[in-house]
Amino acid sequence: MFERSRKGERALLLQPRRASDSAASRNTEEIDEFAELARSAGATVVGSLGARIDKPNPKFFVGSGKAEELKEQRAALDADLILVNHALSPVQERNLEKYTECRVVDRTGLILDIFAQRARSHEGKLQVELAQLKHMSTRLVRGWTHLERQRGGAIGLRGPGETQLELDRRLLSGRVKQLEQRLEKVETQRNTAKRARQRNAVPTAALVGYTNAGKSTLFNKITGAGVYAADQLFATLDPTLRRMDGLACGPVLLADTVGFIRDLPHDLVAAFKSTLAETREADLLLHVVDAADPEHDRRIEEVQRVLEEIGAQDVPQIFVYNKIDKVEGARPRSENIDGGQIARVWVSAVTGAGIDLLRDALTTALQRDRVHAWLAVPDHAGRLRARLIAAGFVSAERPAERGWEIQIDAPRALIEPLFGLPDGEGEWLREQLSRPGLLAASGAAPYNSAATAL
Ligand code: GTP
Repeated sequence: MFERSRKGERALLLQPRRASDSAASRNTEEIDEFAELARSAGATVVGSLGARIDKPNPKFFVGSGKAEELKEQRAALDADLILVNHALSPVQERNLEKYTECRVVDRTGLILDIFAQRARSHEGKLQVELAQLKHMSTRLVRGWTHLERQRGGAIGLRGPGETQLELDRRLLSGRVKQLEQRLEKVETQRNTAKRARQRNAVPTAALVGYTNAGKSTLFNKITGAGVYAADQLFATLDPTLRRMDGLACGPVLLADTVGFIRDLPHDLVAAFKSTLAETREADLLLHVVDAADPEHDRRIEEVQRVLEEIGAQDVPQIFVYNKIDKVEGARPRSENIDGGQIARVWVSAVTGAGIDLLRDALTTALQRDRVHAWLAVPDHAGRLRARLIAAGFVSAERPAERGWEIQIDAPRALIEPLFGLPDGEGEWLREQLSRPGLLAASGAAPYNSAATAL
C-alpha cells in the first residue's frame, strides 16, 4: 500500500495562468490544490513557478523565456521532476524534458499516477492500467535516453510504465485490447448484479463529493463497514456497496464513489465510466461537502460540473455538510430549501453528530419517490398479485387470513402506470396505496417469520 512518508521525489510545479484570469486568489488556490495532488502522489514540493499563457507555445507549452527559467530553477532546486498543472501534448512534454534535462509529468499523468496507487478492486486496477497505457501510447516515441532512468516507483512511471515503455506499439495495443476485454467482462458482471438489485427493487444512494470531503468516513459511520479512509486525496477509487437497514423506507444500498476533482481529465472520466455509472444510476446522491473548507462553495460547483459531465445532474441530491466538529459553533441540524425539494444536513462523520438527521433526510427523500408498503391482497386479486411479483415490485410476502400480504417496494414512477389497469384492478391498487398513514404504518410492519423473501 502507498505510504505517505516514503521519501518523496523533489518536484518543481509549474502553474499556468490564463491571461484573462486576473484573480490572484484563484491562482493561489489552484497552486495549493496542485501541490496537494503532488504530495498525494508522494512527491516533495520544492518550488513552484507561475506562467502566463496567452497562447500555448506548440514547442514547450510555455514560452521560451519561461522554459529557460524552468531549467534554471530546476537545477537550482535540484528537482527530480517538473509537474505541469495542465495537459501537455506528447511533443511539448518531450521538448520540455530535453530542454530542462528533467522528467516532466502533466496533470493527467499525475492524476493517473495517484489513481494507480489507489485502485484497490480488480475493476479499478484494470481501469487505471488501461487509462495509463492509453496515455502512454501517445508518448512512446519520446526516447528515454535523454533522461536518467529512475527506478523504484517514480511519478509518472509507476504501474505498467517501467516495463511497458520498452515494448513496441504492437505489444501495447495487444495489452490494451486484453484489458478492454477483461473490463467488458467485469462490467457485464456488474450489470448483472445491478439488474438483480433492480429486480429486488432496492433503492441505491451514492456518496459523491470533492476529494477528501469525508465520503469514506461517512460511509463507514452510516453502514458500520470498515472501509479504508485516509487523509490523502482519492483514497477511494472503487465504488463500494453496503446495505443500510433499519430505515423506515426499507433497506437502501449505499455506494461510496471516487472523489471528484476540478478539471478531471476527460480520458479519466471515460476510463472510469462504469465506476461513475453507479452515480448516474443512483436514486439519490448524498453530496458530501467539507464544511471546514473555506472554499467549499466552489468545491460544490466543481462537483456539480463533474456530475453534469457524467450525466448525473438530474439525480436528486441531499447536501451533507460534514466535519462540523472542525467548524466553530456549528451544530448538527437539517433544513429543507426550495419548497422541500432540497435537504441540507450538517453532520460530523467522525463524532457521529447529525447522522440520525441524515438518515431521516435520506428516508424522506427516498419515500417521496418510492412506494414501500405492506398491502393486503384478497383472494380475488390473485392476478394483480402475480403481475406485481412478475414486475419485480414485491420484496416479501406472507399468507394472510384471506389471501396474502405483500410488501411492495418500487419507484413510484413505475407503480403509477399500473393504476390504469382494467377490471377495477388499477383503481383498487390506487385506493390501497393512497390510504392515509399506509406508508408510515406499513414501513414499520414486522418482517415476520412467515414472510418469504422473493
Ligand atoms: P477521497 O477518497 O479522496 O474522495 O476522500 P473521501 O471523501 O472519501 O474522504 P475520507 O473519508 O477519506 O476523509 C478524508 C479525511 O477527512 C480523513 O482524514 C478523515 O479522517 C477526515 N474526516 C472525515 N470526516 C471528518 C469529520 O467529520 N471531522 C473531521 N475532523 N475529520 C473528518
